[in-house]
Amino acid sequence: MLVEVGAIVENDILSDDVRSMVIYVPEIAAQAEPGQFVMVKNENGGTFLRRPFGVADVDRNSGRLLLIYRVAGKGTRELAALEPTMEISVEGPLGGGFRFDAESDGKRTLLIGGGVGVAPMIYAARRLAEENPAAKPVFLLGIRSENELFWQDYLQDFTEEIIVTTNDGTAGIKGFAIDALPAVLDKYDIAHIKICGPTIMMEGLAKLAMARGIECQVSLEKRMACGIGVCLGCTFEGRVSGRRWKICHDGPVFPAEEVFEQ
Ligand SMILES: Cc1cc2nc3c(=O)[nH]c(=O)nc-3n(C[C@H](O)[C@H](O)[C@H](O)COP(=O)(O)OP(=O)(O)OC[C@H]3O[C@@H](n4cnc5c(N)ncnc54)[C@H](O)[C@@H]3O)c2cc1C
Ligand code: FES
Repeated sequence: MLVEVGAIVENDILSDDVRSMVIYVPEIAAQAEPGQFVMVKNENGGTFLRRPFGVADVDRNSGRLLLIYRVAGKGTRELAALEPTMEISVEGPLGGGFRFDAESDGKRTLLIGGGVGVAPMIYAARRLAEENPAAKPVFLLGIRSENELFWQDYLQDFTEEIIVTTNDGTAGIKGFAIDALPAVLDKYDIAHIKICGPTIMMEGLAKLAMARGIECQVSLEKRMACGIGVCLGCTFEGRVSGRRWKICHDGPVFPAEEVFEQ
């Protein structure tokens, strides 16, 4: 784990409340794996604690790290006000990230992202597409409305198909990701599912995956103070192991059965 102060390369508006930030942090970009996260802090800002964000992608050649974030409160409002060439402190990469060992069977993976939970799935999609170009992942994209279709631009090169659901029906299938899942599983021979999004959304999806015997990993989110396993503010009890896991240190990605009742 490193702390690197890097220059902001871009801080662009993607929708009303979502921004993309590219930061030049070559050492962290060289190490970060899909599903890991970083804790960032504007050293000249007014927030004491760092804020966690999933690694949306890295470009190891140029040393760049991509974050995609929703402006939710004070810390992210401060991030949104930063401009290119300004500096930001990045701590990471943190957590263990997604496991891809099961994918050695060569079978197809379904990635599911909801809201800003789509961010870390971009890097996961790229990794899977690079490792198995003959069976790129299928992506189920659960968003609020057509205003958030920008995610497709990040995903289309790395995916076989992107199935969109919107809460308001302004694009794709009207409803939630869970409404589209049975048809996706009927169409494709899916052996693995990876999900990041709101807990309520992940629970329904993971239960269906487990009921069908599909290997499933979920990426959890909880407010994090330290991000390195010290404050114990992010723990939960594993359903199968009974272990007290720290989401920041042992996760944020866990097997679905460890988190949700089957
Ligand atoms: C491992 C991890 C990865 C994350 N990745 C991303 C990402 O890629 N993109 C992104 O936009 N956000 C991500 N988040 C959530 C992000 O960290 C919070 O939205 C951010 O810290 C809010 O900071 P703030 O100061 O703007 O808001 P605050 O003023 O602290 O809070 C504003 C609102 O946001 C809610 N909030 C704060 N922290 C979290 C949290 N951890 N999870 C859910 N709601 C929260 C608060 O309850 C409150 O309603 C991630 C969180 C974790 C734990
Ligand atoms: S955030 Fe402190 S232990 Fe996880």
